[in-house]
Amino acid sequence: MTSEAVLVEGARKRYGEKDALDGLDLAVGRGTVHGLLGPNGAGKTTTVRILATLLRHDEGLVRVAGHDVRTGAREVRRRIGLLGQHAALDEELGGRQNLEMFGRLHHLGARRAGTRADELLERFGLGDTGRKPVRQYSGGMRRRLDLAASLITEPEVLFLDEPTTGLDPRGRMEVWDSVRSLVGGGTTVLLTTQYLEEADRLADRISVVDRGRVVADGTPDALKARVGADRIDVVVRDAARLDEAAGLLPVPRAEVGVDPDARRLSAPVTDRMGTLAETVRALDAAGIEAEDIALRRPTLDEVFLHLTAHAQAKEVAA
Ligand SMILES: Nc1ncnc2c1ncn2[C@@H]1O[C@H](COP(=O)(O)OP(=O)(O)OP(=O)(O)O)[C@@H](O)[C@H]1O
Ligand SMILES: [Mg+2]
Repeated sequence: MTSEAVLVEGARKRYGEKDALDGLDLAVGRGTVHGLLGPNGAGKTTTVRILATLLRHDEGLVRVAGHDVRTGAREVRRRIGLLGQHAALDEELGGRQNLEMFGRLHHLGARRAGTRADELLERFGLGDTGRKPVRQYSGGMRRRLDLAASLITEPEVLFLDEPTTGLDPRGRMEVWDSVRSLVGGGTTVLLTTQYLEEADRLADRISVVDRGRVVADGTPDALKARVGADRIDVVVRDAARLDEAAGLLPVPRAEVGVDPDARRLSAPVTDRMGTLAETVRALDAAGIEAEDIALRRPTLDEVFLHLTAHAQAKEVAA
């Protein structure tokens, strides 16, 4: 048995001329939450489908819960749960009936399927709504019911493909809470997302995927640190002087991000205190009033743009 819940080495998958996976590597420790973060078409769903034995890869090593997906597909299937990008609930049935049906499909006896349905409804805060038809559920409730359905079999490894896409902030928050509660139970979670905030909040480690490869891998903090530069944010009081202020920051003008709505400038810095002091002096000398000046670590958004832009630039250069 390997110590990793998921191990992928050099996985390739081609659709005709298109390399959906182009040598993807991934290692997910048991009992951790791992985020697979990437833009549309990066290869996230392809990866999840291969891991869940729904799709065969062309090349490379792929092991899940200690079993090779090619030679041990049945073993793998017994140990995993999958929440797909598009859900498969019966709209007319109640939440409880849906869960019972999933339980029966997975060969639980009638009584066990019923108790398991009740346990899961309770756990995901759906205890009161178990009898309502699913078509009356909100987006967040649906997604929590999906999540409950994927846990019917008490999987060792759970794959969540974009669990919160399309949800409003409240629904997203509800799903995040549910995912967090899983981890306490020892389940390994591999989650794909396009939301950096989601990966930042939930994942112990993140693999940034772009064009079928991992372009960076690490803890959210390590990824932020890797992009290196801290940022300086300046909010000016008078929106009319924003551009003028942008020209005064002691960094190349091209690197200064301007957000007119927030009246905010943002730029990478290498010398933290020096840049801060110079910025204060320069604005003061020009008589531009700053509402706020702060040094901060880059956000994952910035890390992500940096990493994927870099990968694209390399490809253009090649
Ligand atoms: N059945 C298919 N036939 C041909 N090409 C496919 C097929 N499925 C996926 N692809 C292509 O493979 C690449 C990876 O797709 P995949 O669905 O894995 O991306 P993704 O990261 O899940 O994207 P999204 O965020 O949009 O869900 C894309 O370029 C996609 O167009
Ligand atoms: Mg996808």
